[in-house]
Formats: sequence, structure tokens, C-alpha cells
Amino acid sequence: MTQNSTRRRFLARLGTAGATLATASWLPGFGYAQTSGPARTIVDRRHVRADLDRRLLGAFLEHLGRAIYTGVYDPGNPLSNDQGFRTDVIAEISNMNVPIIRYPGGNFVSGYNWLDGVGPKDQRPTVLERAWNSIETNQFGTNEFIDWCRLVGTEPLLGFNMGTGTPEQAVAYVEYCNFPSGTKWSDLRRAHGYDDPHNVRYWCLGNEMDGPWQMGTMPAREYGRKARDIARQIRVIDPSLQLIACGSSSPNMPTYLEWDREVLEECYDQVDGISLHNYFGNTEPLTGNDTSRYLAMNLDMERQMQEIGAVCDYVQGLRKSPKRLWLSFDEWNVWYRARTGDAVNGRRQFAPSLLEEPYNLEDALLVGGFVNALLRQADRTKVACLAQIVNVIAPLTTSPTGLLRQTIYYPYLWSLKYARGRVLDLQVASESYEIRAGNLQADFARNDLVPFIDIVVTHDSERNEAAVFMLNRDLDSDREIVIDWQDPVPSRVLNCETLTGPDLKAINTFDAPDRVAPEPLDAPRPGRSMTFKLPKASYTVAHLAI
Ligand code: AHR
Repeated sequence: MTQNSTRRRFLARLGTAGATLATASWLPGFGYAQTSGPARTIVDRRHVRADLDRRLLGAFLEHLGRAIYTGVYDPGNPLSNDQGFRTDVIAEISNMNVPIIRYPGGNFVSGYNWLDGVGPKDQRPTVLERAWNSIETNQFGTNEFIDWCRLVGTEPLLGFNMGTGTPEQAVAYVEYCNFPSGTKWSDLRRAHGYDDPHNVRYWCLGNEMDGPWQMGTMPAREYGRKARDIARQIRVIDPSLQLIACGSSSPNMPTYLEWDREVLEECYDQVDGISLHNYFGNTEPLTGNDTSRYLAMNLDMERQMQEIGAVCDYVQGLRKSPKRLWLSFDEWNVWYRARTGDAVNGRRQFAPSLLEEPYNLEDALLVGGFVNALLRQADRTKVACLAQIVNVIAPLTTSPTGLLRQTIYYPYLWSLKYARGRVLDLQVASESYEIRAGNLQADFARNDLVPFIDIVVTHDSERNEAAVFMLNRDLDSDREIVIDWQDPVPSRVLNCETLTGPDLKAINTFDAPDRVAPEPLDAPRPGRSMTFKLPKASYTVAHLAI
């Protein structure tokens, strides 16, 4: 049977699709159609969406609150090694196998003098950090971060200060990190005990420079020209470095898309990627406190990637450039509770508790949806960072004596463990539910249809394995999805787990660390047709041998 006839048969089976699609704008763009009865999809390894760059599953670590100090660096704590690094955190993150970690900020980076954080520790200055109004001792800096990255087996993604910093400082930072020897900055690194260059490949050209909250914020064209100038100088050191321009810090910005267009019109030829950021929440303005709308927010994230991708294509066309930019979604997560007042103001304390968001079950389901959205857009989005990794809006929380896995840890972990090889291009038919624009904030005000089932399949031809990631957004009913495996055909279910529970607002605490934790799910027998029965309000992974 040809690919085309398979697709034709599948589309014919969708039945009711046509009428409903006329009113829905979201579904086709994500490969979805409306149907009745169980959800259905066909898996065929010849329909490839993207080769997966594992950097899509990265994370973020900022000098903010307790992320660095007491999170990864806690000298004197019995759990820390002789470098002061928390060994339980190292063990956890290296087991997770996080591919890339962005550092040192975030808003922090726009006031950071990287020179304060290198060299003998007793000579490093203590400064007032102005993004979060905290005391920064600089006892952890770039070299400690690189050492820590090597210990946890991750790649560093460093950022420049394009707020208060100068182009000269930015370029010196690259020379310090990457130049072998024989120059002012490379020899300073060597004098600090690091003979070999750190060889950092990925760099962010500033952070959220469109934001009025950002130190040194500036208009798009000014930023674009500064980014181009810095990038051009950096290319002298190493033309192969991967440079990421600052895109809009959220679709809610008044300059959304225009900022991205103007920045790229200035620096397209000198950069490789552009950043996207977004944080989501189940609040009155964003969702009307409606969990059904909340669990559809991964589609808003997906739309954002399509929109920014379209701006990149537009500028590519304008410039008649052969280069296709990729997207770096280098801050994404749920964040809506610890967002104001004392949760964001360090009040001149060292390692204050900031942005310590407690995550519940519904947050974890949405994070599963975000993973699916990123995987679906993996042809365009090459880098992405869950913001953040420890203590600050994070899947992991430390206490002086232990480590807690928050609910969102699990869907993120599953992506790290099982998403490998290629993301397959699926056409999915699923029953859908309506969402209404109502009085929601403009970027979420949408009349549309949302499929109850959200599914992604990855296929790893080297290991002969596949993974299926399934979100059931139905809050009232279990739902079935029938997967028709054309090629490959699973021979064994290696693992099938689900995250669900009776209380969508349940959280994990140090006293009850497993209140929200995965449970095994009865998987169908492996074979050509597999029907998964997904519990209501759940996120499920199936790991299959081929
Ligand atoms: O991740 C927390 C903050 O959110 C970052 O510092 C900033 O870039 C964003 O606004």
C-alpha cells in the first residue's frame, strides 16, 4: 500500500471531520481533526516530523533565590562535596540526563559582571543584585558552573549581559571561556586553574531585552544592531558558535512579533536562533480558572512557535538568505503563584526564597502537554529550557536535608528518558471540546476546538524503540486512543505509566513526597492495533520495543 492511499483511507475514516473543521482554526495546523468515538492515529516511520535535537529538552539555572545558593551550591552542608556542590542534586540531574542548561540568567544576566564570579573566591566581591534585589556573593561563577555541568553530564548554554554590559565584556567572556591560550582573557582563565578551554557552543545574546523590567531594556532596532555587532566580533573568535537573539519575552507584549521582525531585520545574518519565552497559569485572566482551558495551553505555546517561525521565514525571504533560523524556547513553564510581592523581591537577603512555586497535578498534566508541543515543533525548535531546574519555578526543591520531586518532574523526566530519535508526523482524529474567548487576556482569548487527546510518537531506529506521549484532557471520562502501527510494529511494551489522580490540585511536599506520582497503566498487547485506555485527566507514556 502506498503512503498516499494509507492517508486517504485514514482521512476517509475521520467521517465527521469536514463540517467541524470549518469553524476550527487550531486543529489542522497541529495535525488534528475532529471525529466521534475513540481517538485514532496511524504511525508510519516514513512520515517524519523532525530529527530530535535533545537540546529541545534542556533546563535553566539562574542566580535567583535559592537556585544556585542552597540549590546546587551549599558548602558546609553534609550533602555537599568538597567543591560545595550538593551531591544529591548532582545525582538527580545526572540521572535525568538533562542535555543542556542555560545560565546565569534570566533577568540576572542583564546586570551581571562575569568577572566578579571568576578567580580566587576570597577576592570575589559581594554585590547587590538588582534584578531580584538580593545579595550576590559570587562564590559560584562561570568556572564553577562549567565544573558542575561536567559533573551532571550536561552542556552549558551561556548568556551575555546586554543590559548594563558592553560588547567588549561580552566578547571577552567568549575569549575567556573558549580561546585556548596566549591572549589576555584566555590566559586569565588559565591563571584561574582552567588550562583547557570550556568550549561553550551555545550563547544567548542577552535576555528579554524588550521588557521594561529588564536592566538596559532598549528598542528593537537598537538591540538588533548591538546583537549584530557583538555577534560579528564573536565570529572572529569562532564562526561556528551558535548565537541566539532575544525574541519577544511573551506573546502578551505590545511589541510581540514586531520586536522579533525588527530585531531580525538588523541581525539575521549574524545569528542562528531566536528566543521565545512564555509562562502559563490557571488564573482568572488567562483561563477563567477553568482547567479545561488550562490544559489546552500547550496549543497556545505551539501557536507561539508557529508565529515566531513565520516571522523568521518572513525576514529570511526579505533578505533572500539561504539560512533558516531555528527557535530557542529557552524559558517555558507554569508560573503564576509566586509572581508578586515577597516572592519576587529578595529584600537584600542572601539566597532568599523567591519564585518557589508549588506545582499540583494539573500543572504536571499541562507540562506533559508542553513536552508534546515542543516535540511536535521539533523541526523548528532546536533548543528549549524548562525554567528552571531547582528551587526556582522548578521540578526539584531542596531542603537542608533532602530533595523533593515536584509534580512537574515526572512528565519532564519521561521526555528525557524516552523521547529519542525522530518525532513522527501524525494525523490524529479526536473528539474535541470548545473553548471560548470570553473576557480572557488577549493572547488566550480564543473561540476554538481542543482535541481531548494529545499524542506524540517518537521512534528511535538505532535502539529499535518507540515512545508514545498521551495527554487526556477530558476531566470527566476515561478515553481511548486506537493506534494503528503501519510501520514499525511494537513487539513488546517495556513500560507504561500514567500520572493522574482524584485531586487536580494535589501537590507533593517533604511530608508527603509521593502524593502525585506515576502509576503503572495496563497497556494493550503489542501489535498492529493498540488501544490505550487513558484515565480521565492524565498524562501517560508508553515505551515500546519494536
Ligand atoms: O525565570 C524567571 C524569570 O522570568 C527570568 O529571570 C526572566 O528571564 C523571566 O522574566
